[in-house]
Amino acid sequence: MPNNAAKDWFVHDFDHPAYFDHYRDKEGDAAHEGPALAALLGLREGSRVLDLPCGWGRLRPALEACGHQVISGDLSALNLHRHRIEFLGDLVRLDFRALPFRAACADGVFCAFTSWGYFATDAENQFQLQEFARVLKPGGTLLLDLCGREALKRSVAFDNGRWVHLKQLGYRERVRWSPDGRRIWTERKQGRFAFRHDIWIPTDLEVRESLAAAGLELEAAFGGLHGGAWTLDAERWIYRAIKPLSSRA
Ligand SMILES: C[S@@+](CC[C@H](N)C(=O)[O-])C[C@H]1O[C@@H](n2cnc3c(N)ncnc32)[C@H](O)[C@@H]1O
Repeated sequence: MPNNAAKDWFVHDFDHPAYFDHYRDKEGDAAHEGPALAALLGLREGSRVLDLPCGWGRLRPALEACGHQVISGDLSALNLHRHRIEFLGDLVRLDFRALPFRAACADGVFCAFTSWGYFATDAENQFQLQEFARVLKPGGTLLLDLCGREALKRSVAFDNGRWVHLKQLGYRERVRWSPDGRRIWTERKQGRFAFRHDIWIPTDLEVRESLAAAGLELEAAFGGLHGGAWTLDAERWIYRAIKPLSSRA
C-alpha cells in the first residue's frame, strides 16, 4: 500500500472531520481512560505534563484533575481547533519530528492511544522517542500507551483484508497487515473520502529496545488501564519509562 504520497498519511487522516466520526467512541472512553492513564503516569501534583499528541484534548481534564500543569500539542489544526473550543489551556501546533520545546522542560510526557509508530521508517519513530526524552527533565516520566500486538492480531484475523461495511457508522473499512507483518494498514472509505492509516505495531521487545535506545529506563509495563501486569495477550500495552537522574539535561 504505501507509496511516497501516502508516507505522511497522518497529516491527512487525523485532520479531517471524518476522524471524529471514526473515533466517536473515544469521546465516552475518555471518562475512564483519562483518570486511569493519568494515575499510571504517576506524577505528583503541580507537575508540568506535555500531552503529546493531544488530539482534541479529550484526556486533558483528567491530567488537570491530578493538579498537573498541562501543555497540549498536536499536528492537526482541526483537532487543535476543536480542543480550543472544548477545553481551556495552553496549546501548541507541533510535529513530533521537531518538538518546539527546550530540553528538560517537562516532568512528564503523556502519549496516549497508540500515537507512536506512524512514521514510515524505524529511524523516524525512534526520533520521536528521542524527542520525548530530550524534553523530559532528568527523573521525568514518559507514559506510552500502545495497543497489544498479539491482541490486535487476534482481532484482525477474522476480517483480515476484507472490506467490511459498517452501515451504522456510514463507512467501509478494510484492515490488514503489511506483507512483512510489522505494520497494520486500516483503510476507510466514506463517501468520496478515502483514509489509510499505516501504523507500525511493535513487539514488546522492540518497544523496550526503542525506549532504551532513547536513553529511557523502563520502570513498569502494564497490561491494561488499571495497572494490571503486562501480558503478551493484553489489549493494551502501557509503558512507563524514566529519564535517568544521571542524564544530561
Ligand atoms: C490516535 S490520535 C490520539 C490523540 C490523543 N492522544 C487521544 O488519546 O485522543 C493521534 C494524534 O496524533 C496526531 N499526530 C499524528 N502525527 C503527528 C505528528 N507527526 N506530530 C504531532 N502529532 C501528530 C494526530 O493529529 C492525532 O491527533
